[in-house]
Amino acid sequence: MIIASNFKTNFTRARTDDFVLAIQDFMRDTRSHQQVRIFVPATALDLFDEVPSLHVGAQNFYPVQNGSYTGEIGFEQLEEFGIDTVLIGHSERRHILRESQAFIAQKFDFARDKNVEIVYCVGEPQEIRSLGIDAVMAYIWEQFEGIDINYGRAIVAYEPVWAIGTGLSASDEDIQEVLERLSEKISTPLLYGGSVKVDNIKAILSIPKCSGVLVGTASWNAQDFSYMIQTADELSFLQN
Ligand code: PGA
Repeated sequence: MIIASNFKTNFTRARTDDFVLAIQDFMRDTRSHQQVRIFVPATALDLFDEVPSLHVGAQNFYPVQNGSYTGEIGFEQLEEFGIDTVLIGHSERRHILRESQAFIAQKFDFARDKNVEIVYCVGEPQEIRSLGIDAVMAYIWEQFEGIDINYGRAIVAYEPVWAIGTGLSASDEDIQEVLERLSEKISTPLLYGGSVKVDNIKAILSIPKCSGVLVGTASWNAQDFSYMIQTADELSFLQN
């Protein structure tokens, strides 16, 4: 399973180091085989001595190798740290930073051409959810416009906007329905994100078609994040 943490605009470089070390130790001690991703702030990118299935990733980049884009970070700056996984399309970038679908598709193409793993986020706001599943899916399919979803290193994260950072996760039934519909047309691994926590991760990881989770708030405590990895280990063990 894929267990991913999104630090967003939290954690200093020093705290990131401590966190990554703690998770590495946990994974070594428990011989965890989960695919763990930790999306850290750009200032905390570093060359981590990673356990093979743990990768530190970038939350953002500007789709250029380098150039004159004051304040932005290009791919050269990610390559310096061997970054092999990036987040694209997160709702905070779509809605707060106002990234357009065309720009998001440009970033996707750039990362695809670099052959890095892409965790591509989609999800509907509350006003669309209240219109029902067909409206939700129509909204989500628009977020695939210009996206080469056949790219072999793409992972899709379904993250309803109203569930992100609110403490209010989507119901298991709602998650299952969206993941089922997505899986009819795309074959990437599918994650769920939006108020995943210690209390609900087991149920969410047990949903058919759910290959993992993208966790914000509840992942920022290393012990809790370790518990989430352990839960995935236990479920994987039961499934095998
Ligand atoms: P949350 O954030 O877990 O705090 O809801 C999820 C995300 O933004 O990826």
